[in-house]
Amino acid sequence: MNGSSDSRRKFLHLGTALGAGLLLPACGSSTETNKGQGPAGPGSGGSGPGPGPGPGGGGVGGGAGGMGGRGPTPQCEESDVNIEGPFYTPSAPDKTSLYEPGMPGVRVVIAGKVLGLDGCSPLESAILDVWQANDAGAYDNVGFTLRGVFQVDPEGNYSIDTIIPGHYLNGSQYRPAHVHFKVSAPGYVLLTTQLYFEGDPYNDIDPFIEPSLIMAVNDGPNGGKACTFDFVLRPTG
Ligand SMILES: [Fe+2]
Repeated sequence: MNGSSDSRRKFLHLGTALGAGLLLPACGSSTETNKGQGPAGPGSGGSGPGPGPGPGGGGVGGGAGGMGGRGPTPQCEESDVNIEGPFYTPSAPDKTSLYEPGMPGVRVVIAGKVLGLDGCSPLESAILDVWQANDAGAYDNVGFTLRGVFQVDPEGNYSIDTIIPGHYLNGSQYRPAHVHFKVSAPGYVLLTTQLYFEGDPYNDIDPFIEPSLIMAVNDGPNGGKACTFDFVLRPTG
């Protein structure tokens, strides 16, 4: 299922990246190394992608057993890979809250589990390395704003308090809002991928997006949104 992703990974995620805020019609041009500036873009309005059910991610199948039965054997589907892009910075600080007081943007909590494809069980040693653009579609390439690394809890759960990223130009086309991840665990293949938000106006035209990586967007805490996604890693060897 990752064949198309692999081919897409060969694309360069370079181009002229220019900020295009979800909320702000930007002005002036800049490169991706500039922060918070960009040309006027279509934007998506200030209310975010909006609620509604979506395709979800590579989650856990099966349900609870009933009438004393054990229920179906849990099944997992390996999460799709997605391009790393040019904006990854290693050694980000250990934090799960990328949101900072006063930060513009629609707040969102992204939560879920990290599971192993073998047995579909939580990986308590998993590490998530997360990075994303700000509300204006710009990455912090100097510091570590909206970047963090952390370990899941003993049940394999994670929860990230952040904002929905803005759009930015990749070549002549805006990329949909997305959050980058590197998910690792001992004995498992490193997963580099991105998560997207249902309802984003650029989801349908983005050359990199995978339907399995689009999260449903529901109402969440702090007047913001909430999304869930379970990462499923493939064992090495
Ligand atoms: Fe990106």
